[in-house]
Amino acid sequence: MSLPTSVTIVEVGPRDGLQNESTSIPLATKLRLIDDLAAAGLTVIEAGSFVNPKWIPQMADSAEVFRNLQRRPGVRYTALTPNLQGLERALEAGADEVAVFGAASEAFSRKNINCSIADSLQRFEPVMAKAQAANVRVRGYVSCVLGCPYEGDIEPQAVLEVARALLAMGCYEVSLGDTIGTGTAGSTQRLLDVLLPHIPAQQLALHCHDTYGQALANILVGLQHGIATIDASVAGLGGCPYARGASGNVATEDVLYLLNGLGITTGVQLEALVAAGQRISSALGRPTGSRVARAMAASAG
Ligand code: HMG
Ligand code: MG
Repeated sequence: MSLPTSVTIVEVGPRDGLQNESTSIPLATKLRLIDDLAAAGLTVIEAGSFVNPKWIPQMADSAEVFRNLQRRPGVRYTALTPNLQGLERALEAGADEVAVFGAASEAFSRKNINCSIADSLQRFEPVMAKAQAANVRVRGYVSCVLGCPYEGDIEPQAVLEVARALLAMGCYEVSLGDTIGTGTAGSTQRLLDVLLPHIPAQQLALHCHDTYGQALANILVGLQHGIATIDASVAGLGGCPYARGASGNVATEDVLYLLNGLGITTGVQLEALVAAGQRISSALGRPTGSRVARAMAASAG
């Protein structure tokens, strides 16, 4: 098993992180966060979400976010688009890339996007067609790959089916979401044992929430299998509004520290990233969720 020499970190803090905040976050705070992340060297930043604003009020201003971004060269600013209406809004606002999101759990699919898995895949077809016509790449997410808040354990086979369907309809990559962060190195291994004979590691990403503190161990298992795209959220911001009790994504700072220790290149500067995490944490009025950022602050005295 050889590790990748370089990894792309997909920064999801401005979307997955902020979508779960209960108080409204000023546009300027969001824009500053996104620019801090780009300045730290992140090249893929999920900057917003074109979903029903009644479901996720915090993302209601995503069009303003995209319109007001200070674009840095080489950075892709991406967005979630659950349906055609979302895609149209995203294209109009200037998103560079979009993502459809399905689930390996029927119950979660209904709670999160208000339809069955089969219906969601049907709904994604016109999104794919229109995005392709606009020359915009589409990422696919599968949620609940290592457990569901409503159904408990999820069969790896169910994940495989949805992931294959997303790739078959034209997604360039599928991000495997451990939405509630219950996965372990063992369950990650069992999942990849089922997926990798059918899907090349280059088409997979890992998206780990860190509720049980297992995300870095699970990511290491993915890296050992050649997965070279890792989602993370600066300062460990976030959670999913439809997965009660789930904590944020693994902190980007902590993933970067792991990757640096393995000699894997990312192009991201740790000090600048920690500073970005500190700025948004103070804006939100709470301590960072990154262990690395806390340790660095403590050792700086
Ligand atoms: P629906 O209610 O079934 O949709 O929602 P509908 O087509 O019946 O429309 C109902 C209303 O919603 C209509 O407005 C539409 O215009 C509006 P009304 O006539 O009532 O005034 N509407 C929209 N408005 C703006 N943008 C849109 C849009 N679509 C419909 N795109 C829908 C279906 C999918 C839209 C809804 O369920 C929804 O917005 N869900 C989003 C849930 C969400 O954002 N969850 C969090 C993100 S997923 C996540 O965090 C997991 C992930 O991180 C991976 C992981 O961790 O596993 C990605
Ligand atoms: Mg998530």
